[in-house]
Amino acid sequence: MAPGLLLALTLWASSLPCGGREAAPTQPRVRCRASRYPIAVDCSWTLPPAPPNSTRPTSFIATYRLGVAAHGESQPCLQPTPEATSCTIPDVQMFSMVPYVLNITAIHPWGVSSSFVSIVPEHIIKPDPPVGVYLRPLPGQRLWVQWEPPQSWPFPEVFSLKYRIRYKRHGATRYRQVGPIEATSFTLKAVRPQARYCIQVAAQDLTNYGESSDWSLPAATSVTLGK
Ligand SMILES: *[C@@H]1O[C@H](CO)[C@@H](O)[C@H](O)[C@H]1NC(C)=O
Ligand SMILES: *[C@@H]1O[C@H](CO)[C@@H](O)[C@H](O)[C@H]1NC(C)=O
Repeated sequence: MAPGLLLALTLWASSLPCGGREAAPTQPRVRCRASRYPIAVDCSWTLPPAPPNSTRPTSFIATYRLGVAAHGESQPCLQPTPEATSCTIPDVQMFSMVPYVLNITAIHPWGVSSSFVSIVPEHIIKPDPPVGVYLRPLPGQRLWVQWEPPQSWPFPEVFSLKYRIRYKRHGATRYRQVGPIEATSFTLKAVRPQARYCIQVAAQDLTNYGESSDWSLPAATSVTLGK
C-alpha cells in the first residue's frame, strides 16, 4: 500500500468519533438541585439498564471542582456508598464567578465512562414544597390559609421565600392563583358558603433565582363552610 494512502487511512480512522471502540459506554445522566441552598447541592444520576448478564454492580466516582481550569483541585462529591446514584456538594460557594464542574465516572465491569455537568448553584435552586398547609373558615365567607416554609430550606430568615397559592372549588375545572406573597398566610375572600375548597402552595426564592417548588400536598376544607 502506498505510504500516503496508509497515512490517510490512519488519520481517517483516528478521527472516528469513538476511536474505533464499541458503541460508546453508557454515560450517567446527571441532574443537580439546590433545595437546601446554600448548605449543599444535591445531584443524582441514572444509567441506561446494564446488559442482562452483567453480575457486578456499577460503581461511581463523583468529584467536582470550582471552575473549568485543570489546575483547580478536585473535591469528592459525597456519596453514601460507591454504588449510590447520588452525591452531595457540601459548602456551596455563593455567587461564584465560575460554575462548578461535576465529573461523574461510572465504573462498569466492561469499561469506564464519565459525564460532566456544569452548574451554578443559584440557577438550580428549587425549594421543596411548603408544608403544613392548613385551612380554617372565618366568618364572613372567608377562608384562612396558613403554611410553613419547607423544612429543608435552612435559613428562611436570610434567604426569604415567596409563595403562590392556588385554589379550586370542588367540582370546578380550573384553579385560581394568588401571589406571589411573602407572608405564610392568606385570607381568601368571598368563598362560596356551601362549597368545598382544595388549596395548594408553592415556594420560590424571593429574588427569583432558580425555579418554583412543586405544589404542596393539597389541603381541603373538611366540611362545607357554614353560612
Ligand atoms: C454475557 O453475555 C455475552 C454474550 O451472550 C457473553 O459473551 C459474555 O461472556 C457474558 N458475560 C458474563 C459475565 O456472563
Ligand atoms: C473524572 O473522574 C475520573 C475518576 O476520578 C478521572 O479518572 C478523570 O480523569 C476525571 N476527568 C476529568 C476531565 O477530570
